[in-house]
Amino acid sequence: MASDLIRELDELERSARERVARAGGEEALEALRIELLGRREGRLTAILRRLGELEPADRPAVGKRGNEVKEAVTGLLERRAEELSAAGPAGPDVDLTLPGRRRWTGGRHPITQVIDEIHAVFRSMGFVRARGPEAETDWHNFEALNTPLDHPAAAPGDTFYLDEGVLLRSHTSPVQIRTMMKHEPPIRILAPGLVYRRDPWDPSHAPAFEQIEGLVVDEGITMGDLKATLAEFARRLFGSETRTRFRPSFFPFTEPSAEVDVSCPFCDSGCSTCKGTRWLEIMGAGMVDPAVFEAVGYDPERYTGFAFGMGPGRIAMNVFGVPDIRMWYEGDTRFLEQFA
Ligand code: PHE
Repeated sequence: MASDLIRELDELERSARERVARAGGEEALEALRIELLGRREGRLTAILRRLGELEPADRPAVGKRGNEVKEAVTGLLERRAEELSAAGPAGPDVDLTLPGRRRWTGGRHPITQVIDEIHAVFRSMGFVRARGPEAETDWHNFEALNTPLDHPAAAPGDTFYLDEGVLLRSHTSPVQIRTMMKHEPPIRILAPGLVYRRDPWDPSHAPAFEQIEGLVVDEGITMGDLKATLAEFARRLFGSETRTRFRPSFFPFTEPSAEVDVSCPFCDSGCSTCKGTRWLEIMGAGMVDPAVFEAVGYDPERYTGFAFGMGPGRIAMNVFGVPDIRMWYEGDTRFLEQFA
């Protein structure tokens, strides 16, 4: 009977409305389309095949309703497909509040981190950054720094020579000379950079490593300024409880000279970092020798100053508890990325 087929068509449309709305993805929609509208085995086709059983006069009404249902279901399927693609390629079941996966983009080398921290402390005390060449003359590297060329440090066994009188700087102190040759006092500079020595490649030596040089020159600079500046630096870098100790030492370009120690930041009673001594050596320092002022054309009667030099690689070994200096330079990202 015609009314039975119309009822089945109505029911087909009603259930299609529900099921299409629940379909969660493209594949589910396509399966539904085949089940409902498929030409050979679809439910609509099955119903319309029975048109032949009807009186010819009843057929047009059922055929018309069949076309309406087909259009309605097609429209439902299309709109649902649009909805799903608007929710994004991942579909609506993805938790968009989850944090994304970040790509590894690299990080600052741990020695660079230490240099940057040291630089920040001195910058806040009015020091500006200076730089000089890594290929130096023996005059800037040694003679102007009151170190005659027959000094053992200047021997070809200790220093890399590139040519007659030209070498890879063995410390950052020649930046002191270049700065003073170029500028009149007052001077307050910090000069980080690489230096080179003919040292073995072993747990405590590398043939190229970083140093940070500092120089202050003006009228009336005293050893009190040196001690106060370096003690404040140590407190800012290692913590406000840090104490400083100045031990007499010798450098050709400073007089008097000192090794500067800080109280061990990791213990009160001796640990493996300070090797039981409760002190860590962090730099060499001293009052600029008048012979250095003479070499650069400053009046040693008028000006005084202090200088210091430290190895951020050594400091980083202590701070991070790394036992072998070569680990900084081998470029093993599995090691280095732990500090980033
Ligand atoms: N240039 C010295 C070194 O390489 C360190 C230093 C710098 C000492 C400045 C005193 C003053 O060991």
